[in-house]
Amino acid sequence: MPSQVAEETIYITLRDGRKIVARPTDRNIDRETVYNFRVECGWDMDKVDDWFDMVENGLRLEYLAIGEDGEPVGMIALDLEDMHYKDVEVASRATKTGCVASLYIAKSKRKGGAALALIEYLEVQAKANGVERITMNTLPHNATSRHIFESLGYKKFKEGLRYKDPFSEEVLEAVYYRKQIQ
Ligand SMILES: CC(C)(COP(=O)(O)OP(=O)(O)OC[C@H]1O[C@@H](n2cnc3c(N)ncnc32)[C@H](O)[C@@H]1OP(=O)(O)O)[C@@H](O)C(=O)NCCC(=O)NCCS
Repeated sequence: MPSQVAEETIYITLRDGRKIVARPTDRNIDRETVYNFRVECGWDMDKVDDWFDMVENGLRLEYLAIGEDGEPVGMIALDLEDMHYKDVEVASRATKTGCVASLYIAKSKRKGGAALALIEYLEVQAKANGVERITMNTLPHNATSRHIFESLGYKKFKEGLRYKDPFSEEVLEAVYYRKQIQ
């Protein structure tokens, strides 16, 4: 392994045959990529710098997937504390629970298994960081996301108000899933 490649870097062959590299994000190299993903996604672009602060303070694990052509494929993170809502069922270092955050696959790179691969990679990294349970939450109508997590063994454990709609300020319902990983 070349010395500049972090230990957490792994090479993954997706089910559509594409190869990707998954590795931790680096503020100095990846800020623009992460920001552009959030712009494409349509929300949370104002949180990107806070996320890098969280990573540096041990409050978040954050990873990027890069294709063989060097183009970014997607990202995923695990919040180790539920900073905004303070829901200890969602994420808390005290209970060794982390929450999947910022899962995003570039529009042109979808439906080839990249999200599945990144979630499995995140589970491995979470275990290595002492996390015992992973949660995720999403809007009830996000059938794709729910299907992906259900297929990986995540079970629904509650529903409740969580997200503030960025346009209307209305608080929206979320559905919560979790999985024991060790
Ligand atoms: C949700 C998202 C991450 C999926 O990424 P992806 O790389 O296309 O997902 P994968 O290729 O790994 O697909 C995983 C599964 O979802 C299914 N799937 C993917 N996109 C789908 C779609 N639009 N409709 C229905 N099923 C879909 C795949 O068929 C696959 O299921 P299978 O294993 O039973 O065949 C991606 O669409 C995305 O970034 N969406 C916007 C942000 C978002 O919703 N993030 C999740 C918030 S929790």
